[in-house]
Amino acid sequence: MSTSESSHQWVFGYGSLIWRPGFDYKDARIASLDGYSRRFWQGSHDHRGVPERPGRVVTLTRTPGITCTGRAYLVDAATVSRTFADLDHREKNGYERARETLTFASGEVVSSLVYIATPENFAYLGDAPLTEIAQQIATSIGPSGRNDDYLFALAEALRAINTHDEHVFTLEAEVRRIRAEQSP
Ligand code: SIN
Repeated sequence: MSTSESSHQWVFGYGSLIWRPGFDYKDARIASLDGYSRRFWQGSHDHRGVPERPGRVVTLTRTPGITCTGRAYLVDAATVSRTFADLDHREKNGYERARETLTFASGEVVSSLVYIATPENFAYLGDAPLTEIAQQIATSIGPSGRNDDYLFALAEALRAINTHDEHVFTLEAEVRRIRAEQSP
């Protein structure tokens, strides 16, 4: 998929891109993506874990009838190539760009790029009992920091945009419980 054409581009963030986009944008809006749920099913070898002990980060899984809420950013035409080259690098551990349709609160609909890690990628972990996922998140760490800090930052960012995500909030509670048990 080329982003070299000289037009602006929306990109949808549903994980770390919500609280740390790391690029310049002209506009940011809360947006909904229909037919997907956010899940901690992607392995992280390069940010929140290491290859021998991967962490878990979010990806999107197709779920008819469910809507994933996140934040969409409008990237200016002048910086679109550079921004997507940087994002491709940041999301290189199994994520691919996909084109999807977003809806804003106003009802406006736009075409957007979104990084999705599908079950075919080498780092995919998939579903597991919630207590196992929580244990893995509570104990993993990588070059970008602790895996549980990623989870806590995501939960905080979702609260900031008034979004309830049962999967994320249940994991947050479970990881906080594990950490409280571990502290002296
Ligand atoms: C995203 O935030 O949209 C992709 C997943 C991540 O980088 O956490």
